[in-house]
Amino acid sequence: MLDYRTSSSSDRPPKPLSERLKEETRADHFRAEKHPLMVAMIGGRIDRAAYAGYLGQMLHVHTTLEAALRDTAHHHPALALLVCEHEFRELALLADLSTLGEVPDLHPPLPATRLFCGRIAGLAGEAPVALLGALYVLEGSTNGGRYLAPAVRKAPRLPGHGEAGSGTEYLDPHGPRQRDRWSFFKVSLDVLVLSPGERDLIVAVASDAFRGVHDIFEDLTHPPHAHHAYASHHAPGPTAAAEPAMTPARTRVRDSVSACIRRPAEKEVRTTHQP
Ligand code: HEM
Repeated sequence: MLDYRTSSSSDRPPKPLSERLKEETRADHFRAEKHPLMVAMIGGRIDRAAYAGYLGQMLHVHTTLEAALRDTAHHHPALALLVCEHEFRELALLADLSTLGEVPDLHPPLPATRLFCGRIAGLAGEAPVALLGALYVLEGSTNGGRYLAPAVRKAPRLPGHGEAGSGTEYLDPHGPRQRDRWSFFKVSLDVLVLSPGERDLIVAVASDAFRGVHDIFEDLTHPPHAHHAYASHHAPGPTAAAEPAMTPARTRVRDSVSACIRRPAEKEVRTTHQP
């Protein structure tokens, strides 16, 4: 077992979990934030179909995670303390897809989505407390979502700021309460009574969740054409399933995402903050 304490003294308290999560996933965050799909979104260059494709995949992830949290929270004190209804995004995603005139059925899970959801479902059975690592990543993503939402609304044919059904409920679900809620989430993480092994697992699962999201971005932008090519790029999950066929809907989303992120004059938009 790795010892993450900064001193060899065994009576020194362990580093707060929120600090460990931030520090030990910094590189994972950087990779996700700099993915061309995110760069297109923050640059206001994502089109409607590509944005819908992103929401459609995230819907699978949230549906899986939120069902797992609902099923397990009352069995585990740490989950019971931290898991709140306002951390759930399934309804926001459905509302955004509806604003875009999309139905979820048009967005079957891509291979990376299947794998990531399989890993989440596996944790629910084996080590529910580790779901907190995935929740940290998805809840934490509302920090960047506050910047992404107005940028995405600038994209063509998306509703304007302040209009009913912004289409960006998922990205910015908390509005002005985001900072406070995020601070509260982190403080709550730090008061949980967890064993060293549970802490290590939560951090490892957070890092894996960043990878899961990144792989979904990759599938959205460069969908695999052959199963063997796919298998060489993604780690297999516990419920790895055969790659779904390229339906017309998938082809449409893939082409649209590729078109919107491959503009030659693309400039990387930097944010002033780094987590
Ligand atoms: C263009 C895309 C993104 C931008 C601009 C962005 C920006 C930010 C910003 C400004 C923060 C707050 C940093 C701080 O206050 O210390 C943050 C935190 C965070 N973001 Fe992102 N982000 C992006 C994408 C993502 C994605 C795709 C995920 C994961 C799905 C993610 C997960 C997180 C997490 C977990 C934190 C919390 C870090 C911590 O305080 O522990 N972000 N992000």
